[in-house]
Amino acid sequence: MVLLVVLMVIFPYNIQAKIGTFWHVTDLHYDVNYTTSGSRDKMCWNQATRSEDGAGSSSPGQFGDYECDAPLSLVMSAVQAMAKLHPKPDFVLWTGDDTAHVADSYFNTNKVVDIVGTLTSILNQSFPTTPFFPILGNHDYYPKNQFPLGKSDLQTQVADLWRSWLTKIPYTSFQTDGRYWADVQGTNVTIVALNTLLWYKSNDNTAFLPDSDPNGADPGKHFAWADEVLRKLSARKRRVYIIGHIPPGKFERYQQTKEGFHWFQPRYNDRFIQMIQNHSDVIEAQFFAHHHTDSFR
Ligand SMILES: *[C@@H]1O[C@H](CO)[C@@H](O)[C@H](O)[C@H]1NC(C)=O
Ligand SMILES: *[C@@H]1O[C@H](CO)[C@@H](O)[C@H](O)[C@H]1NC(C)=O
Ligand SMILES: *[C@@H]1O[C@H](CO)[C@@H](O)[C@H](O)[C@H]1NC(C)=O
Ligand SMILES: *[C@@H]1O[C@H](CO)[C@@H](O)[C@H](O)[C@H]1NC(C)=O
Repeated sequence: MVLLVVLMVIFPYNIQAKIGTFWHVTDLHYDVNYTTSGSRDKMCWNQATRSEDGAGSSSPGQFGDYECDAPLSLVMSAVQAMAKLHPKPDFVLWTGDDTAHVADSYFNTNKVVDIVGTLTSILNQSFPTTPFFPILGNHDYYPKNQFPLGKSDLQTQVADLWRSWLTKIPYTSFQTDGRYWADVQGTNVTIVALNTLLWYKSNDNTAFLPDSDPNGADPGKHFAWADEVLRKLSARKRRVYIIGHIPPGKFERYQQTKEGFHWFQPRYNDRFIQMIQNHSDVIEAQFFAHHHTDSFR
């Protein structure tokens, strides 16, 4: 199912202006094969795998349909509206899921990178001087959900697309581990971009590793990394905004069981909460994606 979420946020730590603004854009799920003409099952590409409930679109329009992923016209319209409403934000957060909900058989690494590249240039053209803090979602890997531990060809290619947004240390950190931290110039804010794809239930690279395996206990030493980064940022008195694609905690739209539904593997959810509590002095806010649902905690 769709979405494309665009949110403008006001924050208190722009040093000059005392108050600042940023855009949060996420889950664009751009469908390169969207069309409004021809056979009804081709308009909303790959009907069978696209929608959670299998429902089809009744009449897909020029700017898409609630039951379909986003056509380019919708992405362009949203980005143009962002630039018109607020052309000079302090920064933009972009938290992934760039490709459509279609089966892996229609993708390969190059097709995913092409889509990330198209969206990167659309955003960059509309905000040519704005700092961007991007990360990838579970749909931005081939095969989907299977973001690996360590380096990959895809990460290297995407890091190159984002080179002008990521300075040297974030570039290398993203390329190697899919994570980074970076100060937002002119503000008290530091972005800590977590690779929550490693903690995702549907990631088979970590889901079956026992706790006795170091990469089962702490995949890619990601908790250890975040712990050290947050400690240093606390010593520097920074205000941390954590960003990630897969959110922690329960999903309020799925409440079939008493325990509710978590996206993280339970062991990582527990450890994540502990980490956030340990560093609550320096963490100002957290911004996640994936839900296609407004959710404030
Ligand atoms: C788009 O359609 C073409 C032609 O049917 C297909 O080969 C390709 O895999 C599709 N790509 C995506 C990303 O859906
Ligand atoms: C954004 O556009 C500028 C100016 O054309 C270019 O130098 C830069 O590499 C682009 N950055 C990205 C991330 O596309
Ligand atoms: C932001 O940082 C400046 C300079 O380091 C400091 O003077 C100011 O008190 C900080 N403001 C907040 C709200 O943390
Ligand atoms: C949180 O702090 C406690 C006490 O210092 C420590 O035992 C634990 O490992 C920390 N948890 C994380 C996830 O960093």
